[in-house]
Amino acid sequence: MRKIILTVCFAGAFLTTAFCQSNKTEKVFAVAANHIKAHVEPTMYGIFFEDINMAADGGVYAELVKNRSFEFGSSLIGWTEKKKDNGNGKIEVIDRSAERPENPHFITLTNSNLGYNGLINEGFRGMGIKKGETYSFSVLARQHSGSQIKLYVELMKPDGSVIGNATLSPDAANWKRYNVKFIVNETTDKAHLAVWAKNEGTIDLDMISLFPQHTWKNRPGGLRADLVQKLADLKPGFLRFPGGCIVEGRDIATRYQWKKTIGDIDKRENIINRWNTELKHRLAPEYYQTFGLGFMEYFLTAEDIGASPLPILNCGMACQFNTGQLVPLDQLDPYIQDALDLIEFANGGIHTKWGKLRADLGHPKPFNLKMIGVGNEQWGEQYIVRWKLFTKAIKDKYPHVRIVSSLGPDPGGEKFDLLNTAFRELHADILDEHYYRSPKWFLDNVKRYDNYDRKGPKIFAGEYAAQSVATVSPDNKNNWQCAISEAAFMTGLERNADVVNMASYAPLFAHVEGWQWTPDLIWFDNLRSYGTPNYYVQQLYSLNKGTDVVPVTLNNQTVTGQDGCFASAVLDKKNSDVIIKIINTDKKKQNASFVINGLKGLNTTAAITTLQSNDLAAENSLTNPKAVSPVIHRGSLNGNVMKLQLQPYSFNLIRIKATID
Ligand code: AHR
Repeated sequence: MRKIILTVCFAGAFLTTAFCQSNKTEKVFAVAANHIKAHVEPTMYGIFFEDINMAADGGVYAELVKNRSFEFGSSLIGWTEKKKDNGNGKIEVIDRSAERPENPHFITLTNSNLGYNGLINEGFRGMGIKKGETYSFSVLARQHSGSQIKLYVELMKPDGSVIGNATLSPDAANWKRYNVKFIVNETTDKAHLAVWAKNEGTIDLDMISLFPQHTWKNRPGGLRADLVQKLADLKPGFLRFPGGCIVEGRDIATRYQWKKTIGDIDKRENIINRWNTELKHRLAPEYYQTFGLGFMEYFLTAEDIGASPLPILNCGMACQFNTGQLVPLDQLDPYIQDALDLIEFANGGIHTKWGKLRADLGHPKPFNLKMIGVGNEQWGEQYIVRWKLFTKAIKDKYPHVRIVSSLGPDPGGEKFDLLNTAFRELHADILDEHYYRSPKWFLDNVKRYDNYDRKGPKIFAGEYAAQSVATVSPDNKNNWQCAISEAAFMTGLERNADVVNMASYAPLFAHVEGWQWTPDLIWFDNLRSYGTPNYYVQQLYSLNKGTDVVPVTLNNQTVTGQDGCFASAVLDKKNSDVIIKIINTDKKKQNASFVINGLKGLNTTAAITTLQSNDLAAENSLTNPKAVSPVIHRGSLNGNVMKLQLQPYSFNLIRIKATID
């Protein structure tokens, strides 16, 4: 036996001596499958979306042109003026704020009869373009009197070679949208777009746009299909949007205002993204919000992926880490009205004002909004007093809509305690806790919810992620150590599903060149994307959340870190499965057997999914996206007992068919 073990060790040269040892004593885990402790809400594992790290513009929103409407800070951000073939002429940015305050700028392009005058758009760190794909170019244009200008559109590689082109002949003297489609003959993640004017004359241009034809659900002007697919693959119970601190704004003027994010995209007012200058170590000076991904798109996406929508609204407070500006209480009504109108927009009949607008935007059916967040990461008495006004107005009109209330930025301490006490006394529906903490904190806090009041408000673990170095450190990694500590902690969420009804990792997306905050669940460049080990942890929980929690014990104790083991178990009544999640955070293998009591008709085989790495520093990447990813194998049962050797640093998910009433 000793010889065999040594052979295996040498074969796996990467294994250290420690990994070759196993804890000889077999651990016997008992599952009391007939003792249902809690019901698992369909919302249990969801996602948290915020436009941080280029998640929306330059990310999931598939627009390829940066600053399409000339509204970013200095109006030609993203654009370079260019002439070719002896071109001659000028480009001017025109301001018409009085007439169009929500989209004040456009350009006027003049050309002589010689050559081409134009401008090149750099995209968001370049444009991701695929060979054989059809691209849809559009522009709002207005020819001046007597002008004959034709537009030549070219997609170019960084070396200037043209990989796709099209021509447009604007003919109207009033603003009109022109569209043209063309196919591209090469793939690159760094394309630029040139828009050339040819012939003599002057033309006004605005909303210069380029989208791939193939988007999520092939919606014109839609979302990047590969990125939304990654969300759909999580089968999330809810979609929280649009953030995050972005809801609050650095000041009240730059708060998120949902009404400005729906309807025609050329009427959606662009504003600076608060992450533009927020983190000094990762400045993003050209980061703006175009709101092409606005509230209608959020609701549609939630519906597409089967997630309950959870919008979070500004409660009359700007980010307390920044200006902390407050809207005086006697001026809060429009903010409260925004919340009431949003509920009507989501749920109202088509004869109501806001329900009609939803129908006019193509969705007569209600979105079935059941929850709304009042404030993001607020704290202090000034929050409580505003929260009371919002809550009264919402509950008076919509008693069944549940309100998500913030418990501040930390999972403990003065700010947390003040809100936690107040909101429990006020019988709040759902409390939103945030924790960006070390991997050790996650392991140490697996019992966090064991003694929470079972009759009090429900918990939404609204933002959490293990931080490998320190909170907000740019050196944080999405490594296996962080992911496995989250997996261990989540057994505690699951065991307490009667109290914890919702949980979401944060942030969700990051562009590999455009990020500000790390770690993040999904990373992408202009063409590719990958799920982190943390993504696969979330996915395993979400796809295997089951319907009812049952106890799993070791020596009659819940499994909360004994010899590095953490466990939870659920029944899946819909599919007739018992599901055990067992995490071994130890560097040694552990021999385990699982005794499943109280179930008839147990199958003799089990599907075992393992997420494992011997290297706690292991990460996934664009070039090695599946370095740490689920591996499925089979196990067998002897009667109601299944033996399994738990690998070092492993998350194991055991699924066994049974007869479940
Ligand atoms: O997820 C990043 C930020 O962390 C969120 O915007 C905020 O709510 C929290 O402080």
